[in-house]
Amino acid sequence: MILVLDFGSQYNQLITRRIREFGVYSELHSHQLTVDEITEMNPKGIILSGGPHSVYDENSFRCDQAIFDLGIPILGICYGMQLMTQHFGGNVRRALDREYGKAEIQVTNGSVLFEGTPESQVVWMSHGDKIMEPPNGFHIDATSSSTPIASISHPEKRMYGVQFHPEVRHTEFGNPLLKQFVFDICQCDGNWTMENFIDIEVEKIRSKVGDKKVLCALSGGVDSSVVAVLMHKAIGDQLTCIFVDHGLLRKNEADMVMETFRDEFQINIVKVNAKDRFLGKLKGVSDPEQKRKIIGNEFIYVFDDEADKLQGIEFLAQGTLYTDIVESGTETAQTIKSHHNVGGLPENMQFELIEPLNTLFKDEVRMLGVELGIPEEMVWRQPFPGPGLAIRVLGEVTEEKLEIVRESDAILREEIKTAGLDRDIWQYFTVLPNIRSVGVMGDARTYDYTIGIRAVTSIDGMTSDWARIPWDVLEKVSTRLVNEVERINRVVYDVTSKPPATIEWE
Ligand code: XMP
Repeated sequence: MILVLDFGSQYNQLITRRIREFGVYSELHSHQLTVDEITEMNPKGIILSGGPHSVYDENSFRCDQAIFDLGIPILGICYGMQLMTQHFGGNVRRALDREYGKAEIQVTNGSVLFEGTPESQVVWMSHGDKIMEPPNGFHIDATSSSTPIASISHPEKRMYGVQFHPEVRHTEFGNPLLKQFVFDICQCDGNWTMENFIDIEVEKIRSKVGDKKVLCALSGGVDSSVVAVLMHKAIGDQLTCIFVDHGLLRKNEADMVMETFRDEFQINIVKVNAKDRFLGKLKGVSDPEQKRKIIGNEFIYVFDDEADKLQGIEFLAQGTLYTDIVESGTETAQTIKSHHNVGGLPENMQFELIEPLNTLFKDEVRMLGVELGIPEEMVWRQPFPGPGLAIRVLGEVTEEKLEIVRESDAILREEIKTAGLDRDIWQYFTVLPNIRSVGVMGDARTYDYTIGIRAVTSIDGMTSDWARIPWDVLEKVSTRLVNEVERINRVVYDVTSKPPATIEWE
């Protein structure tokens, strides 16, 4: 394992990602870890990340200084290198000319970190401070015109530092450098694969659960699907899943979930048909936030009712991801806790939590899903909001409007898939704004609904751009929508990015 200590760099998760891509397990933790906690983790190497502070600021982030005496190889990146320099008695100063972006370094000293890479290479710099003098016994391994000390090392102590960011793609030979550290210096094996992950997790789950029973809320989304299949692999029939069909799912979705998980994987699933319960509560409600609240609460009540009917359950399995845990910072255990209730399950439930995905990133969860044999269609499913189609029917939700959205969404999904765009577009769906307009169909006047197409590209849903779907695909979708879905006589395409709009219309 390679331990990455977080000093607040915006790239900190990337370091962990890169190392995992090499097949070496890596975790990102707060710089506040004590040396005892670190020893307990038994890492083969430690990376000190970059960070926004200056090492000489009074309140700058520090780590337990005893880590430098552990004999474990350390790579300091940017701020991390400056910390190392300061610890060993070198000199760090604020640079007159701050350096952000591309720079060219010259490798001068044949350090093992740069083995196999050219003497001159492009790197990504982002720093305000720089090292004026390396500590005693450290070599200078690379220089650039504005950063004469761009890399240092003390091979006997197995301490290395780089001023630039090897984890960023713009650093031409960043991956080879990290690989040199991980494999050559830290002697890692590179055998961390999803297959191994499954074996290890299955063992962990078995020893934690013993012969007890586990409950899991299955939504059909990627995370809960993967958790359910992984748990089932570990404990078989000791697992029961609750799948709440709130009547706000997409076309065929509930059937697909049941066919996949109950029929193919043979998982115990309690399917709750709660459509009437949800639609009843939503009757007459048109405010979006009110709708969300009603659905969220109702979900909890339904889940609670069903869980109550089951006897002897001691654990609750949830699809918490690594990003859920580290996104709000690795500073305190407090922030980590607040994420535990993902999925909005009751806070007062007397279950012990099992979160087998909480060391994985989203795309690793997808890889795990594929490895576990979950159909690609589910593994690559686009994000779907908890309140489902209720927030895509603007205003009051009625069965008729739900049907229009459900049918139109199915057509859009089919055409996007046929056009081979389903992996390129982050999210694509139809919305039913509460407007009707005049049209003409077969010589007759119509006065019917307008349907909106929303399709966006995004990395994480926080910001997005509208997808440039080819005209011919849009044309086909539009024609099919007015011909095949009753009560639609007009189609519009949403060309707003986020911000200022949001992805969903409500
Ligand atoms: P917005 O509309 O806020 O959506 O730009 C960003 C992402 O979040 C999803 N979304 C939700 N997911 N419950 C959810 O589980 C919600 O209430 C909700 N609202 C939006 C949305 O689909 C998009 O992926």
